[in-house]
Order: sequence, then structure tokens, then C-alpha cells
Amino acid sequence: MTEATIIDGKAIAARVTDKIAAQTENYIREAGAPPCLAVVLVGEDPASAVYVRNKGRTAEKVGFKSIQHTLSIDTPESDLIALINKLNGDPAVNGILVQLPLPAHIDATRIIELIAPEKDVDGFHPINVGRLGAGDFIKALIPCTPAGCVILAKSALGDNLSGLHTVIIGRSNIVGKPAAQLFLAENCTVTIAHSKTRDIEDVVHRADIVVAAVGRAEMVKGAWIKPGATVIDVGINRIAAPEKGEGKTRLVGDVDFASAAAVAGYITPVPGGVGPMTIALLMANTYYAACRQNGVSHLIIA
Ligand code: GUN
Repeated sequence: MTEATIIDGKAIAARVTDKIAAQTENYIREAGAPPCLAVVLVGEDPASAVYVRNKGRTAEKVGFKSIQHTLSIDTPESDLIALINKLNGDPAVNGILVQLPLPAHIDATRIIELIAPEKDVDGFHPINVGRLGAGDFIKALIPCTPAGCVILAKSALGDNLSGLHTVIIGRSNIVGKPAAQLFLAENCTVTIAHSKTRDIEDVVHRADIVVAAVGRAEMVKGAWIKPGATVIDVGINRIAAPEKGEGKTRLVGDVDFASAAAVAGYITPVPGGVGPMTIALLMANTYYAACRQNGVSHLIIA
């Protein structure tokens, strides 16, 4: 059976970050200081800590200033609010990202709504959600993971996705809903499937592009995929890997890679697919935010 072509997210993300690094040099000449990204982590969730470290590292690699605030798991909500207010009011900070999930005693919606929309490099503030829904791509900051999914789909299928049927599995605010808006803006026919969708296999089987963002390890099977379809796997799930030794684990996506790769035309791996794109697009958003705040004209990076 023919095997799908693997979409190399790492290489595509590196092209994006190389472009940003080149533009950062121009930005510094005009603005006098590098773009600055502040990342806030509450608690010690190991996966979140890895993501935050990678975001800070990539920021420095492209020439940005990176600040990390690590707060203990029992930080009162009022302390986090005070920190966000301080970052909002600091003209040297261009982008603010609060890593999710937050501990249960903190109201995540309240925190997201507090971040100044022009510094909201995650694109989660209702102002940015609304701008995306209204198709205002000039002013909106667009959520990084869905933006990365569109670029990966285009890397396989070319820039014109018009008329293709995209089925998004998952309806989260972080991925599923904004991904639907972005593929719609590309003139795709968009279906959002979720845990209550009937005959989900049949729905997915009609897709030219499948975006899997449910957070359930290897849920999407090869038999669900239309032959030749493009599969974008957003999931990052850690599962037991006894074959590697006792207590060992490995990362898998929401797609059963082996069976899906046997029928798909193109497929993203986990890791090395969507993950690096999320970080690359975060750098793009930070660059746009810094340019807009300082009246510096900017290129569209990706
Ligand atoms: N947790 C999982 N994905 C994301 C993301 O894109 N941004 C933030 N802030 N937290 C996350």
C-alpha cells in the first residue's frame, strides 16, 4: 500500500522563523529594541513547562527578548491579575502569553479577557476572536496552532484550498473553532465534528483535509480517512510505551499514524508536525504585535 507523504513541520517552521529572524534585524534598526515576549506559567505541569521553555528559546533564537514569569501552583488569582496589569502597562513588553491550562482556582476566561488585545499573541481575547470571525486579518492576532494547520495544509496542497472539504475534529476555543474560521476564510467547505457527532467516521471520510484536535490518543483510524486526503494531527498525547522499557512513555497524536499513513496523501507526524508550527506562528504574532505597537510596517510572514 502506498504511504502518505510526511509533512515536515519542523522544516516548514524553520523557514518561518528564519524569515522572522531576518525581519527582526530591520525591526530593531527602526524601533531601537527587539520585540519582547512575556510568557507566564502557573504551576509545574511538566508538558506546559516544556512548551514554555521552547517558546522562550525560540524567541531568543529569532532575536527577540524573552521574559518568563513562573508562579507557584497556589498563586492567588489576584497576584496573576496584578502581573498581567503590569505587563499590559509596560511599553517594553509587546506580547503576553499565559500558558493554559491554569489551575482550577483561577478563572482562565477572566485572565484571557484582561490581556491587552494588542499584546494577546495567543489570539484568545474576545476582541481578537471577534476580529477573526469578522475576517479582519489586518488587526486580528490569529491563534497560532490553527494558523499553523493552514500553512501545513497549503504546504501539501498548494496555496489554493478553495472548495476543499475540511473536517475539523474538536471544537475547542484554542484550535477547533478558530481553525474552522481560518479554513472558511480559505474558501473551504468546513465541518466541525465533535464528541456528540453521529457517524463521525462517515463525516471524516468525506474530508479532503482532516484536522484532528480532540486530545484523545490515536482516536482517528486509517479506515476513517478518504484515500489521498491530507491529515493534520494537532494532538500531543503521552502514552505508556512498555516496548521501550518499564515505565517508559512516548508521544502520539490524535491520529493512529500507521493506519492513516497507509491511506492518506499527506500526513503530519507527532512530534515534528503541528507543534513546531505553533511556536513559529507565536513568533510571527509577537513580531506583528511589536510592529503595530511601534508604528513599524511589517511583512506578512506566513
Ligand atoms: N496550551 C495548549 N496550547 C496552548 C496555546 O496555544 N497557548 C497557550 N497559552 N496555552 C496553551
